Amino acid sequence: MSIKILTVSSANMDLNMRVNECPLKGQTIIGDSYSYVSGGKGANSASAVAKLGGKSVFCAALGNDENGKILKSIYEKTGIDTSCILVLEDAPTGLATVTVEADGANRIVVFSGANAALSAEHAVKSAEKSKPDAVFCHFEIPYDTVSAVSHYCHENKIPMFIDAGPASEDYDLLKLAPVFVFSPNETELEIYTGTEPKNENEMLCAARKLQTLVKAEYYVLKLGKRGVAVYDGKTINIIPTYDVKVVDTTAAGDSFTAAMTLEYMRSKDIYRACRYGNAVASITVSRQGALDAIPDEAELEKFIAEKNIIL
Ligand code: ATP
Ligand code: RIB
Repeated sequence: MSIKILTVSSANMDLNMRVNECPLKGQTIIGDSYSYVSGGKGANSASAVAKLGGKSVFCAALGNDENGKILKSIYEKTGIDTSCILVLEDAPTGLATVTVEADGANRIVVFSGANAALSAEHAVKSAEKSKPDAVFCHFEIPYDTVSAVSHYCHENKIPMFIDAGPASEDYDLLKLAPVFVFSPNETELEIYTGTEPKNENEMLCAARKLQTLVKAEYYVLKLGKRGVAVYDGKTINIIPTYDVKVVDTTAAGDSFTAAMTLEYMRSKDIYRACRYGNAVASITVSRQGALDAIPDEAELEKFIAEKNIIL
């Protein structure tokens, strides 16, 4: 039986611009190439679930504009259930400028548009209607919506997985109900805990600090090319990622966390789920773009065989 995951999160059109190096303050530079691609942390994750064989329901808000129409049809082609997507008359579809340097690193600015109007009421109704096995959120929609979803999931014993980006010092993490997994990347971890862990001991300290802010069964720290560190409330374990040539890191975190969620729900093994997430995310960073960079099941199987990965 296929696992059903409800993603309550953001949808953006990404203007992806390749440059050699990002401009300095006040500087103008000439870019190498650009493309408009389907992005948004939520859409990237909902796509990963669908591409990897899960039932993917996406609760999001789009504007009633050209970008909204293009994105909705891409989601449908990807196999995402779009019945919980709101189309708003009075807000434009979210837009992100994603500047990618030669080494694959990115800098992103998001104009939230319709994402800022994704209400707690609609999100909770979507959860009631879709009856998911697990719920997945980022913080690219109103914080109160994520908080309301966490309380709904806690009361209804639905495992909730939070990819904790983008982070803001304004978020009161203590407002969240206990969740199953809380997963920040390095910059988010620094905003929440004030530390940028360089070694295992510092990772353990950062995870313990996080534990005082939000209750979770597991804290999964995303550490870029170092892979991830899993804290289960007692010990920390590093799960390394796989060696690839990096082209564009956009959607690395989104595809990792969504794949980890799906594989955890299938196997109930957090370490296997993180190895699976690392394999998916390392393929994602080796390709250009967001949704398009995320592998499907066949591409993942081929990668796992080529790299002799034991999940
Ligand atoms: P995003 O660019 O989507 O915001 P993120 O900052 O949230 O990503 P990262 O920690 O950079 O998240 O990366 C998430 C996962 O992607 C890592 O845990 C790892 O599995 C994979 N990854 C990232 N960078 C690399 C790399 N250079 N080589 C292989 N895998 C990588
Ligand atoms: O995580 C990558 C995503 O962040 C991009 O697709 C962009 O839209 C922003 O939401």
